[in-house]
Amino acid sequence: MTRRTCLAIVLAAGEGTRMRSALPKVLHAIAGRSLLAHVLTAVADLSVTTTAVVVGPGQDAVAAEARRVAPSAACFVQHDRRGTAHAVLAAKAAFARRPDDVLIVYGDTPLIRAATLKRLRAPLAAGAAVAVLAFRPADPSGYGRLIVAGDKLIAIREEADASATEKAIGLCNGGIMALAGTHALAILQHIDNHNRKAEFYLTDAVEVANGMKLNAVAIEVEEDDVRGINSKGQLAEAEAVAQQRLRTAALDLGVTLVAPETVFLSADTKFGKDVVVEPYVVFGEKVTVEDQAVIHAFSHLVGAHVGKGASVGPFARLRPGTRLGAGARIGNFVEVKEAVIEAGAKANHLSYIGDASVGANANVGAGTITCNYDGAEKHRTAIGKDAFIGSNSALVAPVEIGAGAYIGSGSVITEDVPAGALALGRGRQVVKDGAAARLRALRSLAKRKARSRD
Ligand code: UD1
Ligand code: CA
Repeated sequence: MTRRTCLAIVLAAGEGTRMRSALPKVLHAIAGRSLLAHVLTAVADLSVTTTAVVVGPGQDAVAAEARRVAPSAACFVQHDRRGTAHAVLAAKAAFARRPDDVLIVYGDTPLIRAATLKRLRAPLAAGAAVAVLAFRPADPSGYGRLIVAGDKLIAIREEADASATEKAIGLCNGGIMALAGTHALAILQHIDNHNRKAEFYLTDAVEVANGMKLNAVAIEVEEDDVRGINSKGQLAEAEAVAQQRLRTAALDLGVTLVAPETVFLSADTKFGKDVVVEPYVVFGEKVTVEDQAVIHAFSHLVGAHVGKGASVGPFARLRPGTRLGAGARIGNFVEVKEAVIEAGAKANHLSYIGDASVGANANVGAGTITCNYDGAEKHRTAIGKDAFIGSNSALVAPVEIGAGAYIGSGSVITEDVPAGALALGRGRQVVKDGAAARLRALRSLAKRKARSRD
């Protein structure tokens, strides 16, 4: 069998008014990735021939996101928002290559998977002109209802136009449709806007196809695959499903999640073998954790690479640009940003390490701060291998601490320290024998004087 060519059209021109947000709906994120990026990733996994994205006028940010995720996708602008069929026709130029299949996916249906899209295309190869993903949601309100007769799909009725009997139908439109390329344009051009909202509904493709004596079918799938997002409540529900899937995938990979329901992952989180993640850990975008590393409870990681056997937390914060070498240790209340911590180096307690490099096996004592920002610019701190930074030191960048150097506790280091040197940058301690008693006596005298004055 020859491979069928496929044009995928992603509709992203929605207003999304029910999101009550200045951000375009499809740019809202679940699992650290925009709704649009989830859809485009599923479409790419299907290896379609061409991808078109329909955006609203002035939605440059949406077009930019489409280009970032799918550089080969063509963007089309739907100038007036006149319905989903009208939106598809905004991408009419993309039909010129006469694809075998036309797949239409809504940008607000982010949980769709390539395997499900594949199932939707199957009936086209068998001669159907229209195939629709159907599901039975717990709450059907807001969705289009499917009117079926036997295994034939007769029509889709939008909720606004549905009668009471039609509203009672539990089988709903998942909002994802496949059209046979040979008939797609003819069907779309026949759709009118004679409905409550005076919109050109893509869903009317079913009735139009039936009128042309063509076949329409519904393929029933799980609700999770086709959840549409029109509100923040639905966004949160989709996030829960995405998290559930990511946790299951991590467990299947052999990651130990002590309390999976408390761990939040991103769609791009990567784990090696025998990784342990304790409860209440958040993985933002772009985190890689290598074999045998342990992420202790209540840690927050974004844009960080955790090396083999490294240990993070509890209560650690790894920000973008953090790279931990093998066996490195970042302990409680330590924040790291734009910093390389080489193999075996440690910062175990209460520190800020930003715009820095920490050499292999160096020890950064409790309370050490890299003072990287002077109010105008950021500067770098370089700590050599095997260096020892005494507790509560302030390293005022730009500054370099040589290999094996030793910084006395409580130092404020403003000048470079050569390799192997000892640096002390603090006030000298004064000790006065027996002076404690004299001090107390002076104090009580002062108190008595004050009282006699009252
Ligand atoms: C749509 C379906 C409904 C289905 C539901 C599934 C129609 C008419 N209705 O309803 O049957 O059950 O999805 O989630 O298709 N868009 C444009 N241009 C437009 C209108 C919409 O690009 O002129 C885009 C939106 O950005 C969105 C998608 O198309 O990504 C769907 O539009 P939306 O308004 O969310 O449709 P629903 O009312 O949810
Ligand atoms: Ca929707």
